[in-house]
Amino acid sequence: MALALSPAGPTPDPTFQELVAARPWLMMDPLAGLLAEEVPLVRIAAAVGTPAWVYSATTLRERTRELRRALAEAGLRAKLHFAVKANPNLAVLSLLAAEGCGADVVSEGELRATRAAGIPAGDIVFSGVGKTPRELTLALAEGIGQINLESVEEAEVLSGIAASLGRQVPVALRVNPDVDPRTHAKITTGRSENKFGVDIALAPEAYAKLASLPGLTPVGLAVHIGSQITSGVAAFQAAYRRLGELVVLLRAKGLPVQRVDCGGGLGISYRDEAPASAAALAGAIRAGLGRLDVEIMVEPGRWIAGPAGLLLAAVVLQKQGLQRRFVVLDAGMNDLARPAMYDAWHGILPVAPSHFTAPVSPADVVGPVCESSDTFARNRALPQLAPGSLVVLLDAGAYGVSMSSTYNARPLAPEVLVEGARFAVVRERQGYDALLSGQHVPPWVNRS
Ligand code: LLP
Repeated sequence: MALALSPAGPTPDPTFQELVAARPWLMMDPLAGLLAEEVPLVRIAAAVGTPAWVYSATTLRERTRELRRALAEAGLRAKLHFAVKANPNLAVLSLLAAEGCGADVVSEGELRATRAAGIPAGDIVFSGVGKTPRELTLALAEGIGQINLESVEEAEVLSGIAASLGRQVPVALRVNPDVDPRTHAKITTGRSENKFGVDIALAPEAYAKLASLPGLTPVGLAVHIGSQITSGVAAFQAAYRRLGELVVLLRAKGLPVQRVDCGGGLGISYRDEAPASAAALAGAIRAGLGRLDVEIMVEPGRWIAGPAGLLLAAVVLQKQGLQRRFVVLDAGMNDLARPAMYDAWHGILPVAPSHFTAPVSPADVVGPVCESSDTFARNRALPQLAPGSLVVLLDAGAYGVSMSSTYNARPLAPEVLVEGARFAVVRERQGYDALLSGQHVPPWVNRS
């Protein structure tokens, strides 16, 4: 059975001090309250209101560099392709582009966002289990660097499009290695019961088929076994070893393999998980693929962006029930869906210095959405929080805004990028006009 993503285990929750100490871009200033880099979060709330997403440019840069360094120190020829689904904000993508990152995209929208952020088409990989002919045509027209094919059926469609346009497109075959990464079942992707990739046993035949199709240039293999993997490196090692064996087998058949796309998936510590380090991941890649003289690609999303963002919210009110105290926030599951979807644990901190040291008692932290699953935390040790008090939900830089919706007709929250003592609004709060726009009421719905 898959383990819960971040189970509220028997260990006590980390304290406010521990949560801050483990996040280098956050500091509790005794006067200004919680700082994002050097910017007081109260200033951001005053400028853009709440809820609002706040990202640390420095953290995005540092984590990208750390991962790149780990891969280089393992002696790998490796390129980072940021998984855009984790955070498609144009300022975030532009910052990562300036760091030399390519991108992993899964839709026309992500492809357009990536191009708008200045990432060269040649540095973009197109993944995904259901790319439409329209999306494939656009990718070809843009001159995409690589398309990761998930089935022979998809290869045939792409071949038809490429041939009709007179193009030759570099493709990799996504292999499903049937490895259990022991993460939440909803984000496990590399088991044979999952919809992703071609079963490894069928891969030699499929790769040979790709090589025979007009318009396709097979350049290698791709794998992605799951997300928020915190069970060490064993699953990565097993997957990369299997891929390495497959590379040898394909080459023995005279098929060229120049690249292996190792996917993403490295977990982060939301609560007290102890995921493998970037260096350990690099070691697992080297162990499985290091001898093969292949270019390595890595597609991290969460590891780079997760710890670099938070969701800033205000308390609407506290509500004392018979059994529980509810802290109702102005952010909801429509903003941060992860707790509702995966029972994910996100750290919650008050922003005011007085709240940081005040006595705490258990509270359920909930949003305003009309669903019981709109619950961010149960039995969380928090001080009394009057209406208007600010709190932050930590580690929301990945799969935060990208999974937001307007459920309950709630506009999308703004995004703010901080660097040092400055900050910029990198996406405005959605207005109510925008929320209602594009809808039409035909005259015949109202006959009276
Ligand atoms: N490459 C491929 C082909 C993927 O499907 C994914 C994520 C990644 C890379 C990036 O994985 P990461 O490094 O971020 O783990 N919404 C879920 C996570 C879904 C991940 C889907 N695929 C969550 O909030 O936990």
